[in-house]
Amino acid sequence: MQLLRSIVFSLLAATSVAVPRGDDSRHQAIQPRSANAKYALKEPPLTTPWTDKVGTDPWPEYPRPQMQRSQWQNLNGIWQYRNASSLAEAQNPPFGQDLGQEVLIPSCLESGISGIQGNYHLYSWFSNSFKVPANWNGQQILLNFGAVDYEATVFVNGKQAGFNRGGYFRFTVDVTQFVKPGQQNELLVFVHDPTDSEDYVIPIGKQTHHPSHIFYTPCSGIWQTVWLEAAPANYITQLDLDANMNGQVNVTVHTSAANTTTNVQVIVHDNGDVVATHRGPSNQPFQFNVESPKLWSPDSPKLYNVTVKMGKDQVQSYTGFRTISKGTVNGVVRPLLNGEFIFMFGTLDQGFWPDGIYLPPTKEAMVYDLKMLKNLGFNTVRKHIKVEPQLFYQACDELGLLVIQDMPSLRPLQSRRLSDCTTQTILPDAAQQVEFGRQLEVLVNQHKSFPSIATWVVYNEGWGQITSYYPEFELTDRVKQLDPTRLVDSTTGWFDHGAGDFSDNHHYANPQCGSPFYSTDSSPYDDTRIGLQGEFGGLGNNVSIEHLWNVQAAINTINQTYELDQTIEIWNYRSHIMLAELEDQVKRFSCSGGIWTQTTDVEGEVNGLMTYDRRLARVDEAQWKADIQALYDAAAARGNATMSTH
Ligand SMILES: *[C@@H]1O[C@H](CO)[C@@H](O)[C@H](O)[C@H]1NC(C)=O
Ligand SMILES: *[C@@H]1O[C@H](CO)[C@@H](O)[C@H](O)[C@H]1NC(C)=O
Ligand SMILES: *[C@@H]1O[C@H](CO)[C@@H](O)[C@H](O)[C@H]1NC(C)=O
Ligand SMILES: *[C@@H]1O[C@H](CO)[C@@H](O)[C@H](O)[C@H]1NC(C)=O
Ligand SMILES: *[C@@H]1O[C@H](CO)[C@@H](O)[C@H](O)[C@H]1NC(C)=O
Ligand SMILES: *[C@@H]1O[C@H](CO)[C@@H](O)[C@H](O)[C@H]1NC(C)=O
Ligand SMILES: *[C@@H]1O[C@H](CO)[C@@H](O)[C@H](O)[C@H]1NC(C)=O
Repeated sequence: MQLLRSIVFSLLAATSVAVPRGDDSRHQAIQPRSANAKYALKEPPLTTPWTDKVGTDPWPEYPRPQMQRSQWQNLNGIWQYRNASSLAEAQNPPFGQDLGQEVLIPSCLESGISGIQGNYHLYSWFSNSFKVPANWNGQQILLNFGAVDYEATVFVNGKQAGFNRGGYFRFTVDVTQFVKPGQQNELLVFVHDPTDSEDYVIPIGKQTHHPSHIFYTPCSGIWQTVWLEAAPANYITQLDLDANMNGQVNVTVHTSAANTTTNVQVIVHDNGDVVATHRGPSNQPFQFNVESPKLWSPDSPKLYNVTVKMGKDQVQSYTGFRTISKGTVNGVVRPLLNGEFIFMFGTLDQGFWPDGIYLPPTKEAMVYDLKMLKNLGFNTVRKHIKVEPQLFYQACDELGLLVIQDMPSLRPLQSRRLSDCTTQTILPDAAQQVEFGRQLEVLVNQHKSFPSIATWVVYNEGWGQITSYYPEFELTDRVKQLDPTRLVDSTTGWFDHGAGDFSDNHHYANPQCGSPFYSTDSSPYDDTRIGLQGEFGGLGNNVSIEHLWNVQAAINTINQTYELDQTIEIWNYRSHIMLAELEDQVKRFSCSGGIWTQTTDVEGEVNGLMTYDRRLARVDEAQWKADIQALYDAAAARGNATMSTH
């Protein structure tokens, strides 16, 4: 018996909502149809301290922190699942049928947490049923998916209700016309996830059907929270919020009646006190000011709650006042936070988990990684060719970690064999390139209101980057048009033709940051842009089998690591040398930030600050804290710099 949660919380409650659990009067019981194979966690090749805490009630948190509505119902839990064989099956949905297996939603079908843990999940059916609370009558019923990888066709009570393409983004289906009040409603979802099969060239990041060393197990299916909410006829569909160091708030309230203009009210709160109230029109940007706001920065991650009211609709959000820009400080082009040089120092953060693959087992697990970075003194995290659940960005806003957000790459480093036996790098055709650009726009639009995001990355190391012409220029312009408040790192590593705000070098293991020397696979430092070491480090250290992803093919690739240090002491010694080298470059050259590879081990890579199971930390905490502080001190000594101290 599964319980669905329908939660009502105070409309003025806000950014982190403590979800009241176990209030039976608000629960809607549903009767799942009998399934042959009951859900059970499948033992993954490696567990984490949170694997056994997932249970059958996963991710209970309100999933969309910057646009919270009071009336919602979480549909996560045990659903039914069946493998399908082709795209054609979507034309013949198994309405009213038992799908035969149970699956935990949200999850990646390839993960132990899903209860399936299979391979090649190209086509899949998922089903569940839900009841709409009686007090939602007369309202629009919105069915939300946090993310489905890669294409989802949604059926409600036998009718197609919606379709979405793109594995990393949330989407909403208005199911009002399909649901029956007071009854069980059948929800069927057909998912097609090609990943890197056949000729598909789609955003996949590090997912591959053929995992090897730096490329990992893929994720298929409904991998983020599914929830229902009630909204009035004209409702807010998206809220764009930007607040800058001068106290200016720039708001666009997008609504379902996109061609009409309705009066909206925006209220900014600070611990119960209203600090500003302003009225403006829907569906167009307007601005107002908050007097002398406390600014947001990694050292002082001050946030303000925001309420937006429009007619009968009301959503709860938050923002932080800060300005990201670039400027010349003592002759060097620098990234600026609130008008001062900030040395951005972070890790390459893959966001993979041995038990959940793309989905952290719990929110606590997800935040654990971020707190570990924050504790060591990192002020930045580079979210590497993956997009996280929205709660990840909220955690960065709250903890004070700047985010460099990558667009997930297309078919990284893959080539195909031609009939004349030569090989050709797999690149997108014209239509696939158009779709890549469209999804890049979705990435920016869905995340541009998180204060912590400082920089968008378009291409990583040439992966999926057409070179017959230079698409990064046009894509950079598009990102800047959608979001003029962030910097753009058009090409992190490899094929740099001068686009964007950064001159970004990747080099292993030692850095070559903002410096006159460079390696053959990167470009010389360009002093008209910000010098960044977008990747370095990657030092390896093999561990005993209980901390390894226990898959022989992955273990066989450990010897491809740039450098393997025999003991943790030697790994820390070598880390110190790499960090000291970066510090020297900060003093001598034009180095404005660095990204250390990487937060954790992943599958056949053993180069994390922590092992893949998060049970063993390699870092010598005192040494790393001192080495990281030395970087900030060196940057501050170059002139007008924001100090980041711990
Ligand atoms: C799903 O079914 C297809 C066709 O029968 C089969 O090729 C594929 O291996 C199956 N996949 C899984 C994950 O069971
Ligand atoms: C407000 O934001 C919009 C994009 O959402 C942007 O086009 C506009 O220039 C901004 N206005 C101001 C005054 O910053
Ligand atoms: C709203 O405006 C857009 C473009 O201005 C137009 O394409 C669309 O048909 C309009 N929709 C309605 C419902 O009037
Ligand atoms: C925002 O609302 C949350 C939840 O009610 C509360 O915990 C937090 O203190 C509020 N923050 C501010 C700055 O008002
Ligand atoms: C790494 O350690 C595992 C056992 O934990 C071992 O099987 C593997 O051969 C080692 N690989 C290298 C390159 O040292
Ligand atoms: C790494 O180990 C695998 C499996 O033991 C072996 O086949 C391969 O040749 C080794 N590669 C290197 C670079 O040593
Ligand atoms: C840093 O630069 C800003 C703007 O140019 C200036 O107002 C501030 O006084 C400078 N701070 C220091 C410590 O030099």
